Amino acid sequence: MKYKTKFNLIVLLMLVSIGMMHGQDFKFYRYDTDLLPKEFHEANRVALRKEMPDKSIAVIFSSPVRNRSNDDDYDYHQSPNLYYLTGFTEPNAMLLVFKEEQTIGSMKTNEILFVEDRNPKRESWTGRRLGKNGVSDVLGIRTGMVNKDFEDLEIEFKKFDAIWYDRLPKGAVHEPGTKVDLFNLIDQFKKKTGYPADNMDGYALFNALAKQRMMKKKDELALMQKAIDMTCEGHKEVMKAAEPGMYEYQIQAILEYEFKKNGSEYVGFPSICGGGENSCILHYESNRRKLKDKDLIVIDIGAEYHGYSADVTRTIPISGKYSEEQKTIYNLVYRAQQAGFNVCKPGVSFFLPGDAATKIIKNGLLELGIIKDEFEYSKYFPHGTSHHLGLDVHDVEIESDLSPGNVITVEPGIYIPAGSDCDPKWWNIGVRIEDDVLITDTGHQVLSDKAPRTIEEIENLMKETSIFNEKK
Ligand code: GLY
Ligand code: MN
Ligand code: MN
Repeated sequence: MKYKTKFNLIVLLMLVSIGMMHGQDFKFYRYDTDLLPKEFHEANRVALRKEMPDKSIAVIFSSPVRNRSNDDDYDYHQSPNLYYLTGFTEPNAMLLVFKEEQTIGSMKTNEILFVEDRNPKRESWTGRRLGKNGVSDVLGIRTGMVNKDFEDLEIEFKKFDAIWYDRLPKGAVHEPGTKVDLFNLIDQFKKKTGYPADNMDGYALFNALAKQRMMKKKDELALMQKAIDMTCEGHKEVMKAAEPGMYEYQIQAILEYEFKKNGSEYVGFPSICGGGENSCILHYESNRRKLKDKDLIVIDIGAEYHGYSADVTRTIPISGKYSEEQKTIYNLVYRAQQAGFNVCKPGVSFFLPGDAATKIIKNGLLELGIIKDEFEYSKYFPHGTSHHLGLDVHDVEIESDLSPGNVITVEPGIYIPAGSDCDPKWWNIGVRIEDDVLITDTGHQVLSDKAPRTIEEIENLMKETSIFNEKK
């Protein structure tokens, strides 16, 4: 045998064996045993179909892969709507959900998930793919197809009275190694529908899914509680480890160690660890400063677990003891948060917790002489008090009263940067306290209670030692 022919044969055998291995094992690379069950996603598709008008189709794309630089990409994050409807976490995909069963060629179906074709060589670089069989077998999608089949699919989009589509992903580009990727899927979708066409609606799908996603189900709440618990563990470990001389990034390292140790895949948003003057920057995330003895640190963090994010803030003194001024502001924010909690129940306006918290902060700032007129309060409390929480940290919401199953944050804050028009003794005090709250049938439950919140609880925990240092 000529050398080249022999070489080709060996390569062929290697590819076949990798292919066989991949063909058999797609069920087994889902190592986690607490992923959302396929019945959860199926129920979400059923609920979506109920909302859709007669003779309609819904189209949901995956998120694009985002390039970081050269051949390096950012962590991939699936479109929350696609994940919610399928559990699928790979890029280059498109879901079609039909209101009524369709006959397409010789096939009958009411849903198709288009995915990357399996390719053992590519998978040995990028990780395994479910492929069209996997999405049916593992995720329970009635029809799986590969992306390149979309172009030839005999489907007449003009015949639908309504095409509901999720916003078209921005920035999809051709990816090396994929024959047909998200870029082509969007391109084909536009050609086939005549986008923008009269029967297309870019809002209805968003609204229908937002309404569903705002009502958390039991399976989702179990994952959210895990994300929240590991976030609270991070706060507790930092309370024990914090000491002057540490850097903000070392606080971040301890928090994120706790997340990873407990199984979190990602952070739900960049960890905010702002000490001293940085406590007054609402979404500070560079975390490079060395922490000094008198600093307060605003620590606003959230582990993400199987797609669901926590969002919990604690504000602690690096020294382990709050100064008198810090205590005063802290307790004002604390009381505002308690007032917010107290009105969390079904049937009240989403804005009521914010109104209750704002009232306390306004009066408190007036009494302390930090503001002279109640309207000035927003200089020091410039953000909203609540947002929904779920697959996005600022989760989807459509304006409605609170209902059982909603999970919202209650997060008042006061931030007094240096140079503010008040006694300099208040300068560089930034305090935010944020908790995650489930609205129940009868009231509410604070899901993030495991992280100490009162001054006494925090100062007591800060006396303890941590595995991360040998202080105290
Ligand atoms: N972590 C961002 C926020 O609290 O809204
Ligand atoms: Mn928040
Ligand atoms: Mn937050």
